[in-house]
Amino acid sequence: MRRKVIAGNWKMNMLPNEAIDYIQAFEPLVKDAKAEVILCVPYTDLFYAIMNAQNTNIKIGAQNVHFEEKGAYTGEVSAQMLKAIGVEYVIIGHSERRQYFAETDETVNKKIKAALANGLKPIVCVGETLEQREAGKTEEIITSQTRLALDGLTPEEVKGIIIAYEPIWAIGTGKTATSDDANNSIKAIRAEIAKNYGKDTSEEIIIQYGGSVKSTNAKELFNCSDIDGGLVGGASLKPEEFAKIVKYDE
Ligand code: 13P
Repeated sequence: MRRKVIAGNWKMNMLPNEAIDYIQAFEPLVKDAKAEVILCVPYTDLFYAIMNAQNTNIKIGAQNVHFEEKGAYTGEVSAQMLKAIGVEYVIIGHSERRQYFAETDETVNKKIKAALANGLKPIVCVGETLEQREAGKTEEIITSQTRLALDGLTPEEVKGIIIAYEPIWAIGTGKTATSDDANNSIKAIRAEIAKNYGKDTSEEIIIQYGGSVKSTNAKELFNCSDIDGGLVGGASLKPEEFAKIVKYDE
């Protein structure tokens, strides 16, 4: 039985003092949650978030990482740097980074390898645009993104990765995939992983849904056979609302 993993992606929101206030309000609300809870925060909040989440069940993640170890890459942050301050997770290949910052399947693959080499757990995003969906290409797109992202990894490494299926048309739009649609897309991703890494791996890997998840739709989504939790944007910015999502089963 796979565990549920529910991660908030704050994107480019929250100052350090706001992050500290958030965690202080959020911690008592989720301390007995059954799901694993992760907050993926801006770089500038990471240290404060880690200090304030110490000795709690809240894990802290970054939202990006560079694939090189070190060197002349002005403005970038390496996996080793994140690990050194106690970061545990890192989002890789979010559609906003693919769209606005020229990330490709190839850089996503390199970033995953850098993260794993430094003991960070990647949360890898895949998802189709509205145009691709309307052209009937959803499955082709998400299975190819999955295959290329994981290229060259061992089944053991793949088991330690989280995939977030985030249909781009559902991000920040208030439009959610129906739970059946989301579940079927995630089944297709699992089948692709079974093909390349074996059934064991495909049954163990955590695959989340993301895109306009709220406290009112979390339960229906997360109760689906193949949806192992969510990656939550806007609704993770309020501790009370995000706590309701984390405790969707109560
Ligand atoms: P929203 O929950 O705001 O739609 O964002 C989803 C997302 O992009 C999480 O990574």
